Order: sequence, then C-alpha cells, then structure tokens
Amino acid sequence: MRPRSNMFRTILSLLLVINSVTCAAQVRPSGKGNSSDPQSDWIWNQLHCWEEASKPKQIGKIHSVWHKDGQTIYVLRGEGVGTIFKVDPDTGNIGVYRKLDREKKDRYKLEGLVINKKSMKQVGRSTNFSIQVLDINDNAPIFTKDPFNGTVPEMSGKGTSVLTVSAHDPDDPTVGKHANVTYKILNSLGNFFIEQLTGVIRVKTPDLDREKKKDYQLVIQAKDMGLDEGGMSSTATVYISLSDINDNAPFFPRRQYNYSASEATRIGAAIGRVKAEDLDEGENAKILYTIVSLNNTFHIKTDPRTQEGVITLKEPLDFEKQRVHRIELEAENPTLVKGKKYKTRTVLVIDVLDVDEPPVFSRPLYKFAVHENLPLDTSVGKVLAKDPDLARNRVVYSLRKGMNFFKIGKDDGIIYTRVELDREAIAQHNITVMASEVNKSNSTSYAPVVIKVLDKNDNAPRFAENYNPHVCEDDAAGTVIQVISAVDSDEMTPAVRFHFNIALKDSNFSVKDNGNNTANITVRQAGFNQNEVGKFSLPIIIADNGKPSLSSNNTLEINVCSCDRERVPINCRHFAPLTSGVTVTILLVIFLCIIVAIALVVLIVHQKMQKKNTFAGLVKAPGEIQEQLVRYDEEGGGEMDTNSFDITVLNSLRVNGPRPVRKADRAPVYAQVRKPNNDMGSVVKMKKDEADGDRDGLPYDTLHVYGYEGSDSVADSLSSLDVSSIDSDQDYDFLNDWGPRFQMLAELYGSEPHKEFLDY
Ligand SMILES: *[C@@H]1O[C@H](CO)[C@@H](O)[C@H](O)[C@H]1NC(C)=O
Ligand SMILES: *[C@@H]1O[C@H](CO)[C@@H](O)[C@H](O)[C@H]1NC(C)=O
Ligand SMILES: *[C@@H]1O[C@H](CO)[C@@H](O)[C@H](O)[C@H]1NC(C)=O
Ligand SMILES: *[C@@H]1O[C@H](CO)[C@@H](O)[C@H](O)[C@H]1NC(C)=O
Repeated sequence: MRPRSNMFRTILSLLLVINSVTCAAQVRPSGKGNSSDPQSDWIWNQLHCWEEASKPKQIGKIHSVWHKDGQTIYVLRGEGVGTIFKVDPDTGNIGVYRKLDREKKDRYKLEGLVINKKSMKQVGRSTNFSIQVLDINDNAPIFTKDPFNGTVPEMSGKGTSVLTVSAHDPDDPTVGKHANVTYKILNSLGNFFIEQLTGVIRVKTPDLDREKKKDYQLVIQAKDMGLDEGGMSSTATVYISLSDINDNAPFFPRRQYNYSASEATRIGAAIGRVKAEDLDEGENAKILYTIVSLNNTFHIKTDPRTQEGVITLKEPLDFEKQRVHRIELEAENPTLVKGKKYKTRTVLVIDVLDVDEPPVFSRPLYKFAVHENLPLDTSVGKVLAKDPDLARNRVVYSLRKGMNFFKIGKDDGIIYTRVELDREAIAQHNITVMASEVNKSNSTSYAPVVIKVLDKNDNAPRFAENYNPHVCEDDAAGTVIQVISAVDSDEMTPAVRFHFNIALKDSNFSVKDNGNNTANITVRQAGFNQNEVGKFSLPIIIADNGKPSLSSNNTLEINVCSCDRERVPINCRHFAPLTSGVTVTILLVIFLCIIVAIALVVLIVHQKMQKKNTFAGLVKAPGEIQEQLVRYDEEGGGEMDTNSFDITVLNSLRVNGPRPVRKADRAPVYAQVRKPNNDMGSVVKMKKDEADGDRDGLPYDTLHVYGYEGSDSVADSLSSLDVSSIDSDQDYDFLNDWGPRFQMLAELYGSEPHKEFLDY
C-alpha cells in the first residue's frame, strides 16, 4: 500500500465511478473506507493524471446525489480550475487542458459543488478532493557541480580515493527507477575508476608520475534507471591533478662550469650562478648548495626565487697569486628524497682576469716619530709601495700634503725634515704620501703618514698666572701670602717637577715647596710698615727637572697693606688690585667716571635734537629733491668687519616682508630698474622701494666716502676717489635711468641726464 493512497482513503467518501478512458491508471475499488462518513452524498473516483501529456484529456467524473438533470450544474473550485481543470456542468466529467509537470507540482486540491441553475445557490454539501500528477521519467540526473576538481599525490596506491562525484535526479524516486542514478567514466584511460553506485573515483594504476603527466581529465556519466538499459543521462568533467612528492634527486646537467672574474671584483659581488635541476616542484625542488673543496675565497648561497646557486666573492681575488680557482660544489634537497639523502656534485672553474692596479703601500697608515729641534734633512722614516701587477713597474714617491715641513726621496720613499721642527708649534704632522707608477698618471695610491714630534726640554717654566700678592702689616711669621705654581710649554708629563727658589740670600719671605708643582710664599720676618717699605720685589727662580734642566727668573711684587682681621687689605701705599679689595678712593673714581659719561650722552642727544629741527623745514617741501653730501670718517672694515655691517637687518626684511606703503605716501613712478634675478637683489629692491615710499625719513641721497676699506678683501679697492670720472672709460649713463634719487650720482658720473627727469 502506497502512502499517498492512504491519505486519499481518509478523504474518500463514496463509491468511485470508473472512467478508464481517461489518464487515470489506478482505480480504487468503491466503498473502501466510506463507512466513516455517514453523510456520503458524493461519488468520485481517484483522480490522477500523467504529467507531460500534451492533449486535453478527461481524467474522471464526479457525481452527487443532489444533482438533478436540468435543474442543477456541477461547479469546481480550487487550484487550476478554469485553466488546467474544467468540469462538464451536466455530466461532472473533469478534463485536463494543460500539460502538467510533476516536478513542479504533483497534487492539486479542488472542491466540487452542486449549484441550482435558477437560484445560483449551492445545493447540499460540497466535496474536497485532489488530483495527483503521476511521474514519468522525464528528467536526467543533474550533477551537483561541473567540473569537479580533485588532487591526489603522485604514486598513490591502487584504490586511493580521489574524489566523489554526485548527481541528483528530480524524478519521483518512488516510481520505478526514475531517480536511480549510476555513474560511469566515458573516456577511461585506465588510470582511474569510478564506483558505479557511489560515484567515488579511485586510483587504478599505482604508478602515476607527476613528472610525466600531471593533469587528467575525465568525463563522467550519470544515468538513471539504475543498472537497466536506457534511461536518461548527463555528463560532467572531472579534473584530477597529481600533487608532487619528493621522488627526484637534484642533478647538475654539466660536470663543470666555467666563470671568469676580474681581480677588481668587490667582496660580496656575484661572480656567477649555477643551477642543479630537480624535476620535483615547490618545497621538493628546493636545493641547498655547499662548497666542498677547501676554499676561503668564494661563498655560495641559494637564490630563493630561482633555486640557483649564487657564487659570491668572500676574499679579494689576486691574479698575481692565483689565476684559476677550481672549487667542487655539492647540491642536495633539504628534505629527504624517498626517505633518503641524495647529493650531487659538480666543479666550478673560475678564471681570474688581470687588472692594472695602482701601487700598494706596505701599510695602510705609517706612524713615525722625530725629535724637535733637529737640523733639517733629518730622516724621519721610510714608506714602501709596490706595483702589484706582473709588470712590476717602478714606483716613485711624492708628498701630497705636508710639503712645508717634509720632503720625500723620489725613489727610496725616505721622508726627511725640511725645517727644524718645533713640537710646541705643531705636535703632530699629518701628511699624505703619494706613490705612482712610472709613466702612468692614473696609477696612483695614497697613504697617510702621521709624524709625531717628540719633545725636548727647550722651554723654561714660568708663573702660571700674574700673581698680585700683598702682605699685611700685622702678618705674623709663617703666614702664607701666596700659593704659586708654574707652567711649561714643553710636554707636561707626570714626571715633570718644578722647583721654586728665592734668588735673594736674605729675605723677609720664604718659599715652601708643596711637592705638587706649587709652592707657598710665607712671611719669614714679620713686622712690616707700608710707610717704611711699600713694596717688596721678590725674585723667584723656577726650574724644571728636564735634562738639561731649564730655569727662569720671575719677580713677585708684594704690596704692603694695612688689613682687617680677615687679611683683606684696607689701605695700600701702592695701588692694590681690585680683586683684593675695593677702597673708597677707587669707588670715588668710578663714580666720577659714570657722571662724566652721563653728561656726554646728554650732550650728544641734545645736539641731535637740534639738528632734526633744522631738517624739519626741508622735509616739508614735497617733490623737491635735495642732495646732501655726508662725509664719514668712520667706515666699514672690509669683509672682516662684521660689526659695522649688520646683514640681519636685510634678512629681517626678508622674513617680515616689506613695510606696507601708505596710500598717501605712494612713491612717484620712477623708471624701472632692472633688478638682479636673485634673492638679495629683491631684498635690495624692496629696501629701495621702501625708502622711496617713506616720506618720514630724509629724502636725501647720501654719499658715503670710505677712506679705508678693510684689509681682508681679495678684490681691489672699490673707492672711486682716486679715479677721475673723465678718465674712466666706463659708461654711467644708466644712472640717469634710475630716477631722480640717483640724479646726484648721475650728474657726478654720467653725461647729461635725460630731460624728462630734470623736469620732474
Ligand atoms: C578546476 O580545474 C580546472 C582545470 O584545471 C580549472 O580551470 C578550474 O578553475 C578549477 N575549478 C576550481 C573550482 O578549482
Ligand atoms: C693630525 O691629526 C690629529 C688627529 O686627527 C690632530 O689632533 C692633529 O691636530 C692633526 N695635526 C695637524 C697638523 O693638523
Ligand atoms: C701651603 O698653603 C696652604 C694654604 O694656603 C696650606 O694648606 C698648605 O699646608 C701649605 N703648604 C705647606 C707645605 O705649608
Ligand atoms: C725686611 O723688612 C724690613 C722692614 O719691614 C726692612 O727694613 C728690611 O730691609 C727687609 N729686609 C730685606 C732683606 O728686604
């Protein structure tokens, strides 16, 4: 019993009227199951219909006990009524007028009624029934995708599953074998097989080799009707690619590779590339290169992009030492090949090419030492340079730097002094020696030479500073009035010792050596009176411990003063230094000086104000241009005189921009001056424009006459004072074009000015 029939059975209410002419195939025997419906007043048979039928067909009949011929009619309601299904109003015959598709809709629900023709009212109860669409095998299986892609490692064993294909048939799986799908490979090459019922594709031959054939294309057929003949089918493509396993060892196609490299090749530069072949791909084709022969000159590493071995230079090549390098090379996969390590070898032959090299010094830096004060032509040291090339050209030496103090033997490379050296002037000479191959100007090498000048005790020690000691009238014997120390221009090593002695046999003072190159001057004989002796001159001899020892005579002037308790001098007969105390007289002098200075300033300011007032009248006449010759006695000091000329004034203008010109003060239109095309040019132009527009200032041309232009200018004097303008062959006519403000200059230097400017 089929489940759908069960469902119908519960709905069925009455006997079935058989109409086997229609498309109905299965007819229910009447009366079955109608006992549950006591009010069975309808009769209809099981209504069903084959899908895809093209012609209109009668599929069944309904009958009601309320139907009275001529008085009532049958009417249908529900899905597809009027279009797909129609009922004959008198007989109750139901017809199908459209092609049906079970895969779209397999059951229609309808309602049958009896209606009075006159009143158009329903008579009795209606009945619900359905029409079932029956399946025919009108659909082929549909693959879930197309194409299918699968991957399987090469050399996989027989039966290894690659992928599963699957197809679905939309037909009714309960009817026959309409949806019973089986699979088949149509273009079998024998490498793969498919399981008929499950669609699993498996490896058939175990020796699939990716290096021989990587990609396979299969056409798979899916067919319904199970294993029966016939049925509907469709196809899909399956792409199978073999994935790589490391089943090939690398190998060198050649037993020897030749390269050449110039001996000038930099360290680290690539000399050549070598490639070991590996039929595998990706990780399995990675290659590790190692140089197996004894070698310090070359290095090889793998280019990760190409897996080539890149040979680089580790140590400089020297054609003169070794002309050919043979190195043995090994290549291997870092991963195991079929569980083992395989290595392959080849030989690289590298020819070294000769390059004409400049001479090579025996040392990168020479350090010599020579004593000062030795006579000239003393030898200092010897440098050596050789031509590294086979030619072994002769090398000549010269000095590039340091020629003022030294000379070098052209052929032997011995450096001599040219002057008596003075360590106290230059303690270390840094010179450069040049070595050139004979008759070759471009083959030159340089080497730095450091010559240290060794000290000789040729300077006597002297006071470290200017001491200004005083002794107080009531100083007791033993009072330290000054600690003295000394300096020496000679090299001050820790071993240098100074000795201090008083040159007098009998003195009121004594010197006590502190043992650390200082000494205390102490009072030996107390009881001083500045009215008796105002000042002592103490001669002190300072000697060093050089060999021979040098000494100098120095004098310490000691003032006698009356002091307070702290030994601060209050009054000295001789002028006491400011540092040791300021006396009232000194303060008075300073006060007087300040007063005089203030008076001077007031005077100058007053005079300036008066001058301004006299100018005021002149400014009032606008448009009237006046010239004034101002003579300066003070002048610029040349290029070294950075105080007189302050460039920051010009620069500030660049930063702040030109002062805006007020409308009322707009400058008269002058002839355009060609401005220089640079920054400073525009600054000068701005300055000029600003001056032109500034009516508050004095509209005067001022001529500065400089008697002295400074000593540091390389250029000759720019002064025009010595040059007569008549003698000058220069043309100053352009001054006329510079406008009225330059008229004074134009008249001085130029020929007749242009008329229009005179009229201005
Ligand atoms: C399947 O393989 C084919 C051929 O190798 C390729 O063109 C296609 O893009 C692949 N499709 C997918 C989904 O990988
Ligand atoms: C030489 O070089 C040293 C160290 O660079 C430097 O102190 C010294 O002043 C140099 N001597 C001269 C003369 O330039
Ligand atoms: C020298 O004078 C200082 C103080 O001025 C004192 O500390 C030192 O002991 C004196 N040296 C000697 C040897 O008297
Ligand atoms: C020592 O000082 C006294 C007085 O202060 C002076 O008369 C005497 O000449 C001084 N002695 C020497 C050697 O200067």
